[in-house]
Amino acid sequence: MKKILVTGGTGYIGSHTAVELISEGYEVVIADNLSNSKITVLDGIEKITGTRPAFERIDLCDGQGLESMLQKHGDVSAVIHFAAYKAVGESVGQPLKYYRNNLLSLINLLELMPLYSIENLVFSSSCTVYGQPEQLPVTEQAPVQPATSPYGNTKQVSEEIIRDTVAASNAIKSIALRYFNPIGAHASALIGELPVGVPNNLVPFITQTAIGIRGQLSVFGNDYHTPDGSCIRDYIHVVDLAKAHVVAVRRLIENKNRTPFEVFNLGTGRGVSVLELIRTFEKVTGKPLNYRITDRRPGDTEQVWADTSFANKELGWQARSTLEETLRSAWEWEKQHHQPEI
Ligand code: UFG
Repeated sequence: MKKILVTGGTGYIGSHTAVELISEGYEVVIADNLSNSKITVLDGIEKITGTRPAFERIDLCDGQGLESMLQKHGDVSAVIHFAAYKAVGESVGQPLKYYRNNLLSLINLLELMPLYSIENLVFSSSCTVYGQPEQLPVTEQAPVQPATSPYGNTKQVSEEIIRDTVAASNAIKSIALRYFNPIGAHASALIGELPVGVPNNLVPFITQTAIGIRGQLSVFGNDYHTPDGSCIRDYIHVVDLAKAHVVAVRRLIENKNRTPFEVFNLGTGRGVSVLELIRTFEKVTGKPLNYRITDRRPGDTEQVWADTSFANKELGWQARSTLEETLRSAWEWEKQHHQPEI
């Protein structure tokens, strides 16, 4: 059984990926400092899969701690590196917190992996690297634009660090996955997104408004150059996203990658506006949503959605869930998690 180290494995995407890996027969070791996740996520993973993954509470910025963990677990076939801070707004106010955490953890991993004969790294990147692309849908060849936040910059710099490291020796090969907007939750509603405090992201804010935790949703602008004036994104079901990680890990382990560093877009290929998403949510849940149009949010990209043909062809992977199914899963998770009596 191949052993996969999943950093940030109790987080939103990490936990869904742990489930898919275990379901596909991999052994999972989760490393997480629980800075933005809860240990009870392991219960959810165990209930879904029947297996409780090994867990190490560790901060990856602690190189010695990371080394002890690699010694202890041995025989790791691949690392999927999710662990990172991800709040765009916070990163503007606390850039060093972001640069230290997101870059140092990656550097520690890249330094230690060869010492423990770990060749394969799957890295969580983001469509944020494209900024506002000139052509839509955006392909992996589109130029990387100057980042609009320290968070975004950590993703760009991380990709460069990996590219340079892979080029410098043949000890490591890597796949960077550029996520579009992951939403939704596992069909069991046993794991899902757990935003701390007021959610920054659209769908958790919507579900919390619908359930009564938030009074009103703000739609950030309706004067963009889009058909209904609101921003357009590519919203992908987190389970579809998670499955792509299993494919990427297998591709690296089986040496099927074409180049030592590959980059893939992970999206649905469909752009959806904020207002369209709200209408779809209302339709699938039967709940009218209290929202109002407000000013634009600084730093928002007007519209972006993925050209997924490279991932579809090379990985043999495709996002399967409809927006309706995805929003329904987000709603089921919200109901289950916050108000079990509903
Ligand atoms: N939006 C609202 N109201 C809200 C929240 C969001 O109208 O209360 C709009 C935004 O203006 C945007 C869309 O909903 O048009 C999606 O916003 P999100 O905050 O959900 O996601 P972003 O597209 O801004 O993505 C950003 C970064 C990603 C990062 C992601 C998660 O660009 O790199 O946040 O942190 F991964």
